Amino acid sequence: TPADRLRNFCIIAHIDHGKSTLADRMLQLTGIVEERLMRAQYLDRMDIERERGITIKSQAVRMPWTVDGNEYALNMIDTPGHVDFSYEVNRSLAACEGAILLVDAAQGIEAQTLANLYMALENDLTVVPVLNKIDLPAAQPEKFAEELASLIGGEPEDCLRVSGKTGEGVSDLLDRIVGEIPAPTGDADAPARAMIFDSVYDSYRGVVTYVRVKDGLFTPRTKLTTMSTGTTHELQEIGVISPEPKASKGLGVGEVGYLITGAKDVRQTRVGDTVTMTSSPASQPLPGYVEPKPMVFSGIYPIDGSDFPALREALDKLQLNDAALTFEPESSAALGFGFRCGFLGLLHLEIIRERLEREFNIDLIATAPSVVYEVMSEDGELIEVTNPSEFPDGKVASISEPMVQATILTPADYIGAVMELCQQRRGTLGGMDYLSEDRVEMHYRLPLAEIVFDFFDQLKSKTRGYASLDYDMDGDQTADLVKVDILLNHEKVDAFSAIVHRDKAYAYGTDMTGKLRGLIPRQQFEIPIQAAIGSRVIARETIKALRKDMLAKCYGGDISRKRKLLEKQKEGKKRMKSIGRVDVPQEAFVAALTSD
Ligand code: GTP
Repeated sequence: TPADRLRNFCIIAHIDHGKSTLADRMLQLTGIVEERLMRAQYLDRMDIERERGITIKSQAVRMPWTVDGNEYALNMIDTPGHVDFSYEVNRSLAACEGAILLVDAAQGIEAQTLANLYMALENDLTVVPVLNKIDLPAAQPEKFAEELASLIGGEPEDCLRVSGKTGEGVSDLLDRIVGEIPAPTGDADAPARAMIFDSVYDSYRGVVTYVRVKDGLFTPRTKLTTMSTGTTHELQEIGVISPEPKASKGLGVGEVGYLITGAKDVRQTRVGDTVTMTSSPASQPLPGYVEPKPMVFSGIYPIDGSDFPALREALDKLQLNDAALTFEPESSAALGFGFRCGFLGLLHLEIIRERLEREFNIDLIATAPSVVYEVMSEDGELIEVTNPSEFPDGKVASISEPMVQATILTPADYIGAVMELCQQRRGTLGGMDYLSEDRVEMHYRLPLAEIVFDFFDQLKSKTRGYASLDYDMDGDQTADLVKVDILLNHEKVDAFSAIVHRDKAYAYGTDMTGKLRGLIPRQQFEIPIQAAIGSRVIARETIKALRKDMLAKCYGGDISRKRKLLEKQKEGKKRMKSIGRVDVPQEAFVAALTSD
């Protein structure tokens, strides 16, 4: 298809504002999914994957649409929906010329939408504002059309009103995509260059790479070079998805499609990277490639130590499809053998953890998430600390921590509550904008470490679920941080060491010692539980010695009951960890590490 007949767009929407439903309706209206095969959330279903041996999510779908007798090809590119993946969102947007800003007409704009909108504007995309769900009785299209107009310019009337559910307004929307979103441009005679905006591992075909061609022409049965790594692969198949993969003879300027190269894992074809043809390579990669960098670290341990090899295998498998996940083995006196894993953010951590438990059936315990601290020792050595156990024991000259720029959208009634929370979390207010009379956009600079610790839950509960949050990394800043150790009978319990702000060290210490006192069973002797900074104890609890003989209870009772009890104890012993001569059931560690 010639570039002037192409339109590349994405849909920016908050969760539940109806992106999938609208996408389904478009597939149906453009006729690429037959009515009788249509079912809810077509693009989210993966059974085609089985049939065709290729992973299809809604990365990119090509739809024909005719305006004034001319047939166009519309490429709808999907964007991931969460802050942790903002780099992936950015690259998906960079593959488009336009974005549909889809807003629920009963809800209005949310922080997530706003962050993606700003990113779309930075990428010079044409934004088409659309209010969705106008069939809802609670819809207030007038109100939110004004909000949208004041945000992106233009008149409230320019804001299209649609219902993905009933289909109302959707064909007008397709017309506007053709009319308003510019056609892609590029140099057809230059060496071929394409940007990777998604890369998916498929167990049948290896890696499937989704690209947007900038210049030149990619043809089948050639060799491809990935520019940042210089790796070369045979191009086995090239094509477009509409809505199933169709091999094609080539992809030219502005086209969006997939490549199958036989690459074995997604780290060889990373999002944002440029591919070119090996025989006549481009001299310069496309701008904007950034290597994924883990921001949040956590120790992940199998609850049952014999699951360790299975955990390694599972992480290996997940990594095939996740260029941002890192892991290396580590061991802990309290938790045994596990892995130190690096993630893009908290959600990424939760997704991986859930997949390990659900798809691979491994029960896990994760240590409290930690960010990356830069610690300067007194003799001028700089250490990157991702695990409190790496924190130098001697004196440190300075420590810096990663910061974020957060955008919080809240009803005006909750400004006070949000401010209070952000202050507790060491935030500084950058400014406030009223989106409308009763909705405010607040900007805060906060330490990432304060966000990874249940910030989002707190924000939700303090605003009755109304506030939304988005954040971007914003450099490092020095801070007065200390390492707090927890000691059980005078021995450090590594899994509970934490790097915290000096002002919060005491709270952390009392909280942890209190929790452990409640969880560790009494023993034959008295056990102190202490929190300490270096050698200075800042909190202490004591577990009293055990008096009564457990078996006394069973005196005179029947013998089998007694034996059962003994056996049970023996079994329990196996799962006990001994720390500072204290037997601690594994469950105590699990419970203490599970936030409440
Ligand atoms: P995620 O996939 O979770 O990001 O959600 P989404 O934005 O794709 O939203 P989805 O299409 O799944 O729709 C969310 C909910 O809104 C579903 O219960 C839909 O049935 C409903 N919904 C979507 N569009 C409309 C609409 O136009 N009118 C009404 N009344 N409901 C809609």
